[in-house]
Amino acid sequence: MTELENELLALQAEVQTAVGAVKDEAGLEECRAKYLGRKGLLPAMMSKLGSVPKEDKPAVGKTVNAVKQQIQAYLDECASRIHQAAEEKAALDISLPARRHHIGHRHPISLVMDSAVTIFRRMGFTVADGPDLENVWDNFDALNAPQDHPSRTPEDTFYFDLDKRDWLDPETMILRTQTSDVQIRTMKAHKPPVRIVCPGRCYRRDTPDATHGMSFHQIEGLYVDENVSLADLKGTLAEFSRQMFGEKTKIRFRPHFFPFTEPSVECDASCIVCGGAGCRVCKGSGWIEIAGAGLVNPAVFANVGYDVDKVSGFAFGFGLERIAMIRYGINDLRLLYDNDVRFLHQF
Ligand code: PHE
Repeated sequence: MTELENELLALQAEVQTAVGAVKDEAGLEECRAKYLGRKGLLPAMMSKLGSVPKEDKPAVGKTVNAVKQQIQAYLDECASRIHQAAEEKAALDISLPARRHHIGHRHPISLVMDSAVTIFRRMGFTVADGPDLENVWDNFDALNAPQDHPSRTPEDTFYFDLDKRDWLDPETMILRTQTSDVQIRTMKAHKPPVRIVCPGRCYRRDTPDATHGMSFHQIEGLYVDENVSLADLKGTLAEFSRQMFGEKTKIRFRPHFFPFTEPSVECDASCIVCGGAGCRVCKGSGWIEIAGAGLVNPAVFANVGYDVDKVSGFAFGFGLERIAMIRYGINDLRLLYDNDVRFLHQF
């Protein structure tokens, strides 16, 4: 090995040590100038190539190139190390302003559900719960729904295992079509008196449009005791409506039919938009339908083993989507389920 080659390899080793100590961009530039710059150590050595004996030239030339490449590689490595360190430091800069966190909003359905529960709790109701996946007996038979009731057909109700069971079989499983099944579950488990509300999700095979979805929410109420009358029902719903829609709200009952209540009514509240004068929301009538209700049909008491001669009771069911739409002036039910944050941010 020629003397020049020894010098070159020594220089390469020197550069390796030197870049190890480099801490910043300025140090790196200094190194680059010292070894590779126009007046640097490597070009100075390369200029000695001319005086190398002819027969050694090819070998020495090769070493020169290899050393030059290696030195370049050391400097590049050093550059990326410095760059990465700088980036890590920037990422840890605790003086940077914090990122803004977007806080979520409660969904309008949850808001009205909570208000409704709060109002009924103040009146002495407790909250009961039931499963979404329900059997036909609790959802229909126990509630006195005749077997030929149109709502029971698979065109209207979501059935499970219809390949194994008949849809009139009391044990067939369905997605509950109403929260009234919780009346049954509660009365089967508790002796009277009973005073519960049950907020929950229900399912029906409706084609979605501005006022229908295939799933929606109800809040069910049930009060069973001795001497419960229609006047108690009316007082309860009137007080609820005043607290939910405003002090001036009035209610009225219209006769209706439900298999599980007798007599049955539909309950209207005076329109909260126009106060009863008639507007677009109430379609000019001054009234908005808010609930189905009635006195519990003795046939239902018999189904759950209550003494029909002793107890009486009332039940009601509100659609929560409807209440949210009235309360917040929402004109299309689908907005509630599109999950568009621009919509949800408003509540
Ligand atoms: N379950 C009825 C419905 O879904 C509403 C209702 C509940 C009516 C309780 C009367 C009593 O239409």
